[in-house]
Amino acid sequence: MSDKATLEIDGKKFEFPIIRGTENEVSIDIKSLRSSTNGIITLDSGFKNTGSCKSAITFLNGEEGILRYRGYAIEDLAENSNFLEVAFLIIFGELPTKKQFEKFENDIKAESLLNEEMKNIISGFPKVAHPMGMLSSLTSALTAFNPITVDISSEKDMYNAIVKLLGKFPVLAAWAHSINRGTPLNYADNSLDYIANIMQMLFKIPTKKYIMNSITVEALDKLLILHEDHEQNCSTSTVRIVGSSEAGLFASVSAGVSALWGRLHGGANQAVIEMLEQIEKDGGDVEKFILKAKDKNDPFRLMGFGHRVYKNFDPRARIIKSYADEVLKDLNIEDPALKIARHLEEVALKDEYFVSRKLYPNVDFYSGIIYRALGIPSEMFTVMFAIGRLPGWIAQWREMRLNHEPIGRPRQLYVGENLRKYTSIKNR
Ligand code: ACO
Repeated sequence: MSDKATLEIDGKKFEFPIIRGTENEVSIDIKSLRSSTNGIITLDSGFKNTGSCKSAITFLNGEEGILRYRGYAIEDLAENSNFLEVAFLIIFGELPTKKQFEKFENDIKAESLLNEEMKNIISGFPKVAHPMGMLSSLTSALTAFNPITVDISSEKDMYNAIVKLLGKFPVLAAWAHSINRGTPLNYADNSLDYIANIMQMLFKIPTKKYIMNSITVEALDKLLILHEDHEQNCSTSTVRIVGSSEAGLFASVSAGVSALWGRLHGGANQAVIEMLEQIEKDGGDVEKFILKAKDKNDPFRLMGFGHRVYKNFDPRARIIKSYADEVLKDLNIEDPALKIARHLEEVALKDEYFVSRKLYPNVDFYSGIIYRALGIPSEMFTVMFAIGRLPGWIAQWREMRLNHEPIGRPRQLYVGENLRKYTSIKNR
């Protein structure tokens, strides 16, 4: 293949370099497009064809259903690693040695305490506030208590901000849950590991000894590994673009949490369970809901189906589906939602509408069933996703800063009014 792409406009030819990635993906570098063509830009709504950066973190091939972090297959990591080790890999590029891992884990634990004044902020939220809104606000508020994390001038500053956020973020997530439940705000217990700590912070109450269940801890660990990074999706692009203004890690991640909240993105895991419950309440007629999803006059979409980049099985959905079977069996739970989900998937995968549009189950289709089996309420599902995605957001922000990427600032094609004269209010 040629190493240049040619664009012809009004008989004039412009050449642009072709750049290849390490997995032979091909891109056209249009950096010089506007200056060489006297102002012409590309238009790509939803960025379906636009690469916003070069990245060495995650490789994803949506046509073949491949997902790798730093070159390791997601299946390999989910089977053999743990959440914090994968976080180190994603953020710093290599699997840690034993010594590196211990330091990383201890540095995070040392940062798990929150300033008591944070409680003034959280106590202002109503009990019915959505935990994603609380998490986003509290993450942003962290900057007020750690202003030094904004002005990052060395890798050491960066590391300090990273371990601070990894230490404090799950505590904030658990506090948001406590506000909803009306229970006391728990702190981390540094004798526990990262995932076990999340469980105890979410569920411990003062009147009862909290008994850790190793099956639930392992299931959550695996589930969160699958969520750690997913290249330039909506929330990650948000983190990078906010971070590109040098707003600081906490403010950037707070914006990422808000982006993840939407039901077309991370909010889909809550929407899936609500949809499965709705189908169950309605009598379990799966075919009726498939018809609704296909009807262009009906706003209903099959939640947990379809993906911007996977035009094949989402590899994470495959793994999560088998975990769902395993976890429910281990915990002795029979969940009618799992039966409905399996039936929906079976019907949709044979239906011409879904087949022709390459709509397959995505990561959110089965994850809610596992969260529910672990005792996590549906409004917390997206918060769990955010805890899982935190290392990815951090890694992408760090890469963007280390590569000295310019501030993100897309162009637009203006289609509004031409110049007109102001008319005073009495003449309108
Ligand atoms: N149910 C019914 N039809 C669907 C669905 C669905 N879940 N998803 C896509 N389609 C249809 C669209 O109506 C469209 O049909 P058309 O060509 O006849 O107009 C076609 O498939 C292409 O869909 P787009 O919306 O253009 O695809 P896009 O890449 O923009 O959207 C998205 C991807 C947002 C994930 C979409 O598939 C969707 O809304 N899915 C349900 C929500 C969901 O599960 N989101 C989680 C994604 S994973 C994540 O973010 C962690």
